Amino acid sequence: NAMLAWQRTAFHFQPPKNWMNDPNGPLYHKGWYHLFYQWNPHSAVWGNITWGHAVSRDLVHWLHLPLAMVPDHWYDANGVWSGSATRLPDGRIVMLYTGSTADSVQVQNLAEPADPSDPLLREWVKSDANPVLVPPPGIGLKDFRDPTTAWRVPNDTAWRVAIGSKDRSHAGLALVYRTEDFVRYDPDPALMHVVPGTGMWECVDFYPVATGSGGAGENSGLETSAPPGPGVKHVVKASLDDDKHDYYAIGTYDAAADTWTPDDTVNDVGIGLRYDYGKFYASKTFYDPVLRRRVLWGWVGETDSERADILKGWASLQIGSIPRTVLLDTKTGSNLLQWPVVEVENLRMSGKSFGGVALGHGSVVPLDVGKATQLDIEAEFEVDAAAVEAVTEAEVGFNCSTSAGAAGRGMLGPFGLLVLADEDRSEQTAVYFYLVKGTDGSLKTFFCQDELRGSKANDLVKRVYGSVVPVLNGENLSVRILVDHSIVESFAQGGRTCITSRVYPTRAIYDSARVFLFNNATNVHVTAKSVKIWQLNSAYIRPYSASSL
Ligand code: FRU
Repeated sequence: NAMLAWQRTAFHFQPPKNWMNDPNGPLYHKGWYHLFYQWNPHSAVWGNITWGHAVSRDLVHWLHLPLAMVPDHWYDANGVWSGSATRLPDGRIVMLYTGSTADSVQVQNLAEPADPSDPLLREWVKSDANPVLVPPPGIGLKDFRDPTTAWRVPNDTAWRVAIGSKDRSHAGLALVYRTEDFVRYDPDPALMHVVPGTGMWECVDFYPVATGSGGAGENSGLETSAPPGPGVKHVVKASLDDDKHDYYAIGTYDAAADTWTPDDTVNDVGIGLRYDYGKFYASKTFYDPVLRRRVLWGWVGETDSERADILKGWASLQIGSIPRTVLLDTKTGSNLLQWPVVEVENLRMSGKSFGGVALGHGSVVPLDVGKATQLDIEAEFEVDAAAVEAVTEAEVGFNCSTSAGAAGRGMLGPFGLLVLADEDRSEQTAVYFYLVKGTDGSLKTFFCQDELRGSKANDLVKRVYGSVVPVLNGENLSVRILVDHSIVESFAQGGRTCITSRVYPTRAIYDSARVFLFNNATNVHVTAKSVKIWQLNSAYIRPYSASSL
């Protein structure tokens, strides 16, 4: 079926077939970036979880490798679940992962490469000491999973590892353990962080970011063990099992106590920011020592039905986000910036620029870019300040998710782009800004992505995603969009707010896919100051064979 074949992505990572979930143990080793992932070798739905494995020179082109780990011991018989890699100063690599035991108890296990001199790390050996950690008293047997990359603090030889959990009152939390050898562990007396009401924390991540003052350059990522102190903040991220979104907060790490305090205790419940307002979950970062950056991977699931997934069979695989660099936004200080890794730009082929496109009220302007199924778009918008000034109040109660999407006309929004749209826009995915204005003159900018008309198919979950995006004085509104067949990944204001959608067009496919600019606001003219659109080449994501090396 050509329509289903079309849905496969061209430059987002996918396994060759079947179900995938979380990215696991990302690391750089001897010239290769390694990605492991939760995979079901037998079917298009979750189960039989093993570790798939792929390597890349540049985070864009991938080579699939043989499975790294399969459920072959009592301590992981029900699945080799998520985990993280730690590189020790002597070059040793340790992999900690959760095993679901034969009795479905969640325990932590240790594995190491059989041959660390193999750049491809093809073979993994599970420790004879497994399981190395079992659920502690007071913690549910099925509420103890997903160890982080380990870190160290100054003047202490012990490593720390955090593990996600919840308590009996349904508070989500991160437990910290100390270990010298990754075999024996001591629980830390204090909990690193607890947030009431958030339920089970999956795939906790914990890492430093540079504030730009006090040493580390603001454009540089930090190693996981970079010492806390002036110029360094720490991010805690949890994937909330209750609502399947990744939340984070920026705060201060107390290395002596292994506790962490969020900066914002007023507006933020302690873990209230979102990496991505769309479909993006169970993410994990790693430090890339080559380009000195922190790189974030997320799992982007399907939003079609499980029935469709099974019917599709090969197409039911799920995909990874484009790896993103993560930095603290030193201009706002209150959020992270996520941006597609620079290597994606090597896929850019012919580009087209459109400058100064006037968008009157209710206008839709086609942009002729040729084939429009694999695109990298950068657009900057300028709103007519006098028109904004003239409006005394505009939609203060606005919320992307409860709004009517791009079809809903407000005074100062929506305006932006339509991608994966067919000629007569019977299908379209809208990526846009929407301004609201209070009677006190205050302006707020929302960034939304509307899937409601993304596809004529009816077995889909379709939503309007989005949230407020910080816009500082003098900044134009800017957006970057990656379009790859059935995924649209968008980044507003340099990556302050990000939204990922899965879209399953039935008409806007192959040569029928188009791009448009639009302005559906009733009271404001907008100028698309500059729009650059590149066709993106397909990445090589090749099956394994010894001869392909
Ligand atoms: C998150 C998760 C993890 C677990 C793994 C199992 O999606 O549920 O908590 O380790 O997936 O596949």
